[in-house]
Amino acid sequence: MSARISPSVLSADLGCLREQVERAIAGGAEWIHVDVMDGHFVPNLSFGAPMIRALRRITDRPLDVHLMVERPEHYIEEYADEGATVFTFHPEATVHVQRQLAAVRERGMRAGLALNPATPLAFIEEVVPDLDLVLIMSVNPGYGGQAYLPGATDKIRRVRALLDRHRSPAALEVDGGIGPETIADAWNAGADTFVAGTAVFGEPDPAAAVRDLLRRCAVPV
Ligand code: DX5
Ligand code: ZN
Repeated sequence: MSARISPSVLSADLGCLREQVERAIAGGAEWIHVDVMDGHFVPNLSFGAPMIRALRRITDRPLDVHLMVERPEHYIEEYADEGATVFTFHPEATVHVQRQLAAVRERGMRAGLALNPATPLAFIEEVVPDLDLVLIMSVNPGYGGQAYLPGATDKIRRVRALLDRHRSPAALEVDGGIGPETIADAWNAGADTFVAGTAVFGEPDPAAAVRDLLRRCAVPV
């Protein structure tokens, strides 16, 4: 297994989005993370379908869309049409979680659930076979640039054990405060996919930043 970096364009300079994304990919980023915020589920607004469309014109890499919105089901059709690859939502944001996971897969996307720092594993236990990805939040979502909450490391370990018990091939992603100082802890705990906003796009050279993160997971680059 090798580490996968999913840089978050929330921290990118949108005035030169193409250049920023191309630099991150040149450094070895496999996915591009898109943080959608609605000002209700989280206290901040970001972007939605137009950003997915713009990124689709820039790259054919998987677009890893993270919806921090209420009623994520309203966006399944549209985001599939725009070319989203992974569609991850928070289970507290909708009522019929299993139905929405199935709808995401029916539209040809990979289905993910995100767990906030205070949200227990119980929210995913009944739907493990319906999941292509579990996203562990290592900050309270809403803003880039926050510090990694150390409690996330043990939670990653517990999710890894849960996925292994079910022989699930789902990706285990961690999001928030990932950087050179924190990525190895999350990797050693069993995460395989790492969102990084500030640590990639806050650096002068996103390619070098991605390479450094991969090196911390002992992946030859
Ligand atoms: C947090 C978002 C994250 C965020 C990560 O609300 O879900 O994806 O952009 O940013 P950094 O890596 O700066 O913590
Ligand atoms: Zn995110």
